[in-house]
Amino acid sequence: MTGEDSADIAHEASEVKEKNEAIEKNGSVSAVGEEPKAFIKGKRRSEQEAQVKAGKQKGQLPKKRFYRARAHSNPLSDCQFSVPTTPSEFDWSESFPEFFAQEETTGDKDLKVRFADIGCGFGGLIVQMSPLFPKTLMVGMELRDKVSEYVKERIVALREQHPGQYENISVLRTNAMKYLPNYFEKGQLTKMFFLFPDPHFKEKNHRRRIISTALLAEYAYIMAVGGILYTITDVQELGEWMKAHLDAHPLFHPLTDEELEKDVCVPLLINATEEGQKVERNGGSTYKAIYRRIAGLGNIGA
Ligand SMILES: C[S@@+](CC[C@H](N)C(=O)[O-])C[C@H]1O[C@@H](n2cnc3c(N)ncnc32)[C@H](O)[C@@H]1O
Repeated sequence: MTGEDSADIAHEASEVKEKNEAIEKNGSVSAVGEEPKAFIKGKRRSEQEAQVKAGKQKGQLPKKRFYRARAHSNPLSDCQFSVPTTPSEFDWSESFPEFFAQEETTGDKDLKVRFADIGCGFGGLIVQMSPLFPKTLMVGMELRDKVSEYVKERIVALREQHPGQYENISVLRTNAMKYLPNYFEKGQLTKMFFLFPDPHFKEKNHRRRIISTALLAEYAYIMAVGGILYTITDVQELGEWMKAHLDAHPLFHPLTDEELEKDVCVPLLINATEEGQKVERNGGSTYKAIYRRIAGLGNIGA
C-alpha cells in the first residue's frame, strides 16, 4: 500500500466516523456520508421524500439529514444538467428576484454576481457573508445535487424568515471545473473562494484538483484585477500544492499579513464553513493561501 492509498483510506475513515456520529445524533446518515441503498429504492425513499416535503413548510430551515449525498462526485465525469452557452444567456433574475425587480425601478443595469464560492457544500459561507455585503450578489456553486438542493431550500427558508434579507445569495448546481466561463464574463468576479476542496490524495487523481495551472488561468480570466482568491484546507500536502501553483502563476500575488489582518472574510474561512468548524472542533491545523489577481504585463497602462 502506498502512502497516498493510506491517506485516502484515512480520509474515508474519518468520513465513516462522522457518518456514525451523525447516525447516533440524528438516527440517520449525515449528508457527508455515502448515500445508503435504502435511499435509492423502496419504501424508505418515499418516506424520506415526504419528510423533505414536510421540512419545506414555509420558513422552515431544511434538515441536512434529508439531503443525503455521496461523499464525493467525480468532477471529471459528465453530469446531466443544463449549462448556458454564454454568460449572457443565463437568467440571473431567477436566482436574485428581489434585486432584479428593483433593477426595473432603479434602472441599475449592472447587476452581476461578484463573489463565487466554489464547492460551497452546505452554503455556510455565503449565508454568513450575505449581511456583510448586502449589495453584492454572490453565488455558491456545488456539484452534488442533493447538497445544492439543500442550499437552495436553506436560502428560501432564510428569505421567508427574514424578509428583505438573504436576497443577495443563491446557489447553482454545476461543475465548476468545467463551466465557470459559461456563467461569468471576463473580469466579473471580485472574490472567489475554494474552501476545503476535495483533496484527491492519489497522484493519479491530482488532475481532479480544483486548483491547477490550467484552472488558475481560467480563474484569472473571470476575475477582476484586484479581486481576491481564497483557499484553505486541512490537508497539508494540498495546502502546499495550492500555494505552489498560485506562487507560480504570473497573475496572482499573495496578500500581505497586514492585508490578511484587515480582510473580514479571512476569519469566515474557518468560522462560517461546515468543514472549517469540523476542523476547529477536532483541533486540526489549516493551511491558507490567499492571493490577489494582479494585472498582467499586457494590462499595464491600458
Ligand atoms: C469538502 S467539501 C467543502 C464544502 C465547503 N466549501 C466547506 O468548506 O464547508 C467540497 C465540496 O466541493 C464540491 N465540489 C467538488 N468538486 C466540485 C466541482 N467541480 N464543482 C462544484 N463543486 C464541487 C463537493 O461536492 C463538496 O461539496
